[in-house]
Amino acid sequence: MRRIDELVRLVPDYPQPGILFRDIMPLLADASAFADVIGEIAGRVDGPVDLVAGMEARGFLLAAPVAVALGAGVLPVRKAGKLPGPTASESYELEYGTATIEIHPATVPDGARVLVIDDVLATGGTAAATVALLQRCGADVVGLSFLVELEALRGRDLLTGHAIDVLVSVP
Ligand code: PRP
Repeated sequence: MRRIDELVRLVPDYPQPGILFRDIMPLLADASAFADVIGEIAGRVDGPVDLVAGMEARGFLLAAPVAVALGAGVLPVRKAGKLPGPTASESYELEYGTATIEIHPATVPDGARVLVIDDVLATGGTAAATVALLQRCGADVVGLSFLVELEALRGRDLLTGHAIDVLVSVP
């Protein structure tokens, strides 16, 4: 996984001063590294999965190929206002203000086994809201997978009780 680390570009002061942004675009653009990452995430999944949920926007890029690899469907978790109704939504706190995510509940059969995928686990707000939204829609969240975890932000504290798989941990 050292190669993954090398292909994630560090961008200081983006999108705001003081933030060290992790840009996964070089990794996505490397055909063999991208294939390795998708294979690794899919290979670590334990048990059957019906749907792979990916968070807008970069989570989509991982969720779709992992879903194909697992023989599952893909469930895009969108930011507010992007989906025609009927939708189900969940709001969560940001450092300044709130954010809202939405899905089509009709695409989640009761008891569907759902794997949640995103590129980065930071504060955990996005992932925790996704889990809450999916569960409210009747899903069985079987686990969460992330490319990178920023450990210092303690996002996994919001995900206690869930199986979490991370390819690269940053202290
Ligand atoms: C980033 C990242 C995760 C989320 C993690 O998405 O892709 O979805 O933030 O942060 P958290 O753990 O603190 O919630 P962003 O909101 O930047 O959206 P984007 O992928 O559309 O750029």
